[in-house]
Amino acid sequence: MNLKSAKTEAVIQKLWHPTAVRKLARELADVAAAALTVNDRPLRRPSADQLAAQIVQRGRETPDLVSLVRAISEASLALSHPRYGAQQVAAPIPAAALVESVVAAMNQSLAVWEMSPIATAIDRDLMTRFKKLFGYPRAAEGSLVPGGAFANLTALLAARDALVPYASKNGQARIAIIVGAQAHYSIARAAAILGLGRDAVFKVPLDAEFCTDVEQVTHSCAAARKSGFRKFILVGSSGSTPTGSFDNLVALAEIARKHRAWFHVDAAHGAGLAFSRRFHGRLKGLNRVDSMIFDPHKMMFMPLAAGGVLVRDGAHLLGPLQEQAPYLFGSKRRWPDLGQLTIACSQRFDALKTWLVWRVYGGELWDHLTTHVCDVAQAAFQYCSESEILEPVHQPHSNIFCFQLRHKDDRDSDRHCSAIKEQLNESGFAYISSTVLDGRRVLRIVVMNPRMTADDICDVLRRVEKIACK
Ligand SMILES: Cc1ncc(COP(=O)(O)O)c(C=O)c1O
Repeated sequence: MNLKSAKTEAVIQKLWHPTAVRKLARELADVAAAALTVNDRPLRRPSADQLAAQIVQRGRETPDLVSLVRAISEASLALSHPRYGAQQVAAPIPAAALVESVVAAMNQSLAVWEMSPIATAIDRDLMTRFKKLFGYPRAAEGSLVPGGAFANLTALLAARDALVPYASKNGQARIAIIVGAQAHYSIARAAAILGLGRDAVFKVPLDAEFCTDVEQVTHSCAAARKSGFRKFILVGSSGSTPTGSFDNLVALAEIARKHRAWFHVDAAHGAGLAFSRRFHGRLKGLNRVDSMIFDPHKMMFMPLAAGGVLVRDGAHLLGPLQEQAPYLFGSKRRWPDLGQLTIACSQRFDALKTWLVWRVYGGELWDHLTTHVCDVAQAAFQYCSESEILEPVHQPHSNIFCFQLRHKDDRDSDRHCSAIKEQLNESGFAYISSTVLDGRRVLRIVVMNPRMTADDICDVLRRVEKIACK
């Protein structure tokens, strides 16, 4: 008996006909390839707003799907352009980006092993590789999540329940979070979501290199004690968001031990440096921390989304995430149901892209790429050190570098910096960002595209000088 109407049959034929699907796959792959190797078009099209309106508007004619996707891609910000250096979003490694359509086509969900036997094994192999890389013990547990914000939330959930075992049951926990003044906002947000409250976040002043000032941590702990807190989570940064500065994890671990605090490290940005033979020392002490997060979609150059969390004593991750759902969980196999290790239920097979690059190209690939982007940031520092117009705000610890105008009129320098950034970005020549450090607006370059060279970054800085002198 055929239950399909002729129309339904026609729709199915249109969508699933093998020849049509193959043709579409090839054409879309061509659009992706162009986006991944872009060189010679403006980074951002002029009048992006107008372009967006044109794309969104409904005309009378049905647009051709591939033409529409190509138009969207060509109108979008070109992250793979060699002069892109704005935020911590990577120019993705092509193989990792291109395999995404296969991930979507397979559509494996990793919540339960039964639905994803191969994907689960690959996800777990990837986690084992990360444990080894970061010097974590076998008993550690971890999971992939959609990014650093989710990862911080997950780690702080584990920390909260480890410090106050009944917190998940009765929702009551009084824990102070001691964190560097420039910690990512997701820490305070996680405190709010977990019922700890934003008021429980105590910010530690920074030292001259924009790292958490180790001398000041004890004062912040004392301030928290004075406010009645007896339990603490100390958070370190391995790659802070504004300046990419790396905290002294060894010193912080010692303070955490003294205060019997849970020590969490946000290495969302900088964990990729673990691959760098030259820079891995920045992460010294990471192997001792109670929990950590890492974002392969930052300095491992994966397309969004790829984040991860690891908890040294795996039981603390498993505890708050165990659910009864007989329709899903419970198969006693070699592999766990990963839905019991993360906040999400349905889960994308995000492990594949990172695992594939590691398995096929080897970890030394990231040694080259992460070291290179740090070197390019260093070249920017060198340029500004010698410039008569620009000056460095800090020596880069990694691939983030902030700079400012040398002869600034204090009253106008903030406005001037913002205007320079806008003008540069509007021009389509390059793309950079800005932030506020010590109360002053500064310009910021984040080298997230391994195709950017020292010459490229110097070209960007020359253009900034030209705009500044107009
Ligand atoms: C240090 C740090 N932690 C966490 C995050 C949040 O990561 P995501 O954007 O992947 O959620 C960021 C984002 O830039 C970050 O720099």
